[in-house]
Amino acid sequence: MDRTKHLAERDLALASAHAAMSTAAPRVAADPRRPAYHFLPPAHWMNDPNGTVYHDGWHHLFYQQHPYSDRWDAMHWGHARSRDLVHWEHLPIALWPSKSLGEDHCFSGCAVVDDAGRPMAFYTSISGGRGPEQWLAVGDKDLIAWEKHAASPVLTLASHGSLAIDDWRDPCVFREAGTWYMVVGGHVHGETGCVFLYRSLDLVRWEFDGIPFRGTQGNWECPNLFRLGDKWVLIVSPHNSPYYWVGDLDLAACRFTPVAEGSVDVGNFYAPTTLLDGQGRRIMIGWINGCPLLPEGAPSPGWAGCMSLPRVLSLDATNHLVQTPVPELVSLRGEKQSLAPRTLAAGAMVRLDGLAGQLVELEIDIELSAPDAAAGLRLLAHSDGSAGLDLTFRAGSLELAGKTTPAYDPAPRLRRTLRVFIDHSVVEVYAEGFPCITRIAPDVTADDRSLFLRADGQARVHRLDAWALRPA
Ligand code: FRU
Repeated sequence: MDRTKHLAERDLALASAHAAMSTAAPRVAADPRRPAYHFLPPAHWMNDPNGTVYHDGWHHLFYQQHPYSDRWDAMHWGHARSRDLVHWEHLPIALWPSKSLGEDHCFSGCAVVDDAGRPMAFYTSISGGRGPEQWLAVGDKDLIAWEKHAASPVLTLASHGSLAIDDWRDPCVFREAGTWYMVVGGHVHGETGCVFLYRSLDLVRWEFDGIPFRGTQGNWECPNLFRLGDKWVLIVSPHNSPYYWVGDLDLAACRFTPVAEGSVDVGNFYAPTTLLDGQGRRIMIGWINGCPLLPEGAPSPGWAGCMSLPRVLSLDATNHLVQTPVPELVSLRGEKQSLAPRTLAAGAMVRLDGLAGQLVELEIDIELSAPDAAAGLRLLAHSDGSAGLDLTFRAGSLELAGKTTPAYDPAPRLRRTLRVFIDHSVVEVYAEGFPCITRIAPDVTADDRSLFLRADGQARVHRLDAWALRPA
């Protein structure tokens, strides 16, 4: 490809994309449903996080973006960076579909920095005229300006010999013992979701190793494979709730052997990806899909989607995945209000005026009086208690706005601490022993800010703390 032409095409594509977003930004900023401390672009559509990488003191977040409308189309890679994973700075779009190279979309992928300090982004290039291909782009030292590497595609469907593969996309690259590895999602034609493994010494020439692990149904998107403690974790997005396996990886034998598994988040959460930060923490960010949740025929909101809060990953004693919001989020906390411990009678519905709001973090330590009792909160409700999202804790399950998950620890427990983040129409719930649940409040207005304690069967609230949060 002619480099001058390539760069001229990039500048033109980026200038018109940025202009489209700037025009829409003022209108969407006024939408009361729009999150204020979850990351999202200035306007229009976003989906999967891509290329999350920590480099030179910055956490970089790239993401699937359609800069021209609030609908999925012509995928670009948006870009932002943050020092603290809480406050983000928007940067120019990093990747754009190169029309002169026949590209229609730059699908999901990853980024790494090689030994020479060169940022390398891998993504699935989509064109109506050919099958998916894995492409490489090289960034400048600040990861801001990107060019497509002349060796692209670095992998094509032909790399698999006679194996017929469908939905082959979303490369995830990692290094182990001096060799680079890549996993890509999809499935062998007529078979079930799996990951495909490749290896390289220079990030440019890749060889297909085989299929280290496959599922029992469907198709797998956005695989992530990384070390966590002395285990390996595989996370995939199977067109519904992302799922993980924790196990052992034998790269020489191309074999992953799981010892534990479970859901990552059973709500509006998809295509998570991870990075290793400067402190050696494994941090995951996912796409909160379906927000804003719109009634039939509602006017176009001008924005769609946001990112989850960054979550630190660890394993518990049974090798299940534990997710904790990054501690840096405490920098958003304003005034703290606490509720005196109290017992809730069966059927109670108690409005908590001092602790209410739409930008709030709550921590509740709650105990059920009996294994068949249920208790919890109603969030973002009208002041009369109608509407809102119900969070319900039972001995063996947790439910938020119609999505339920069983506990993953085998012994049902009557007492748990739940942590809740409310950000206008978005709610994330973290609870020890459960996968996360992220949900969207439909049609929330600035007045839907009331918080209620609810009980169905007697329960004891040992502690309830609430912090007003500042926008990021
Ligand atoms: C997951 C996904 C990926 C794909 C991208 C396209 O949400 O379908 O598999 O690369 O979105 O935007």
